[in-house]
Amino acid sequence: MHFSDNTLENLLFEIQDKIATITFNRPKALNALNKQTLLEAMACLTECRTNEEVQVVILTGSGIKAFVAGADIAFMQELSPLAAREFAFLGQELMNTIERLNKPVIAAINGFALGGGCELAIACDIRLASENARFGQPEVNLGVIPGFAGTQRLPRLIGKGRASELIFTGDMIDAQEAYRIGLVNKVVPQDQLIPICREMASKIASRGPVAVRLSKEAINNGTEMDLARACILEADTFALCFSSPEQKEGMRAFLEKRPAQFQGK
Ligand code: CAA
Repeated sequence: MHFSDNTLENLLFEIQDKIATITFNRPKALNALNKQTLLEAMACLTECRTNEEVQVVILTGSGIKAFVAGADIAFMQELSPLAAREFAFLGQELMNTIERLNKPVIAAINGFALGGGCELAIACDIRLASENARFGQPEVNLGVIPGFAGTQRLPRLIGKGRASELIFTGDMIDAQEAYRIGLVNKVVPQDQLIPICREMASKIASRGPVAVRLSKEAINNGTEMDLARACILEADTFALCFSSPEQKEGMRAFLEKRPAQFQGK
């Protein structure tokens, strides 16, 4: 699928001040994820990957009720087992694409983040939630298990015990509880959510883009390794920074007591 704004049915996409915002926009279905929405999100992320103007991506949902209320139940209802497997792989591919994107991705969770919506949020690098946000993996109520990598990323993020409780009970938790258990970084008033996310995104965009990108790679690749190998990866990645003009400029600027001017090369 080639990216073009006017081919998007279920998403809004804008780039402003180095920040790309992808908004899941199916308000009648609480922004639920069907196949078309997953494909459109992949197309937007491909654009974010290659567009040099973009330094940080924000993912959010339209309206004030839902971030994403899950995979689309109406779409899934009659799937054959093989089609369900392909749908899960497609959703997982989107989550992997977010995690492996060469730029940070911030989830601005503005309401329900359930099932595939919670899985989408936890694939992002940083999560900020509005006070009315609700989280859960309610799949057991539908006779299925999480299919967009929730059984894998949720335990890695909040620990096996807490993830098992959420997945086995299907219970929803509020934003404060999500903050308490480390599922979100910060809880803010609904009307402040996007401004605070943009402020954080702008701050990240003002730092050395190569260093930000390589930090993301080291964090995500290292967590899948044992500590000794992960530390070698970190040292190699640290060394790689010295091939970038950013390191020369960053260190020179510090020693000359002036702000660094990063070119992102
Ligand atoms: N898929 C499809 N449609 C959905 C949906 C979903 N996941 N979530 C909500 N909707 C639709 C509703 O069917 C309803 O449509 P109609 O107006 O046409 O009836 C509309 O959105 C509004 O929803 P409600 O009337 O239910 O709103 P509510 O305020 O009473 O409840 C809610 C809100 C608690 C979020 C409730 O909608 C809900 O429980 N949604 C389903 C959540 C869920 O189970 N998500 C997991 C899906 S499975 C999954 O994601 C698997 C995976 O890992 C891949």
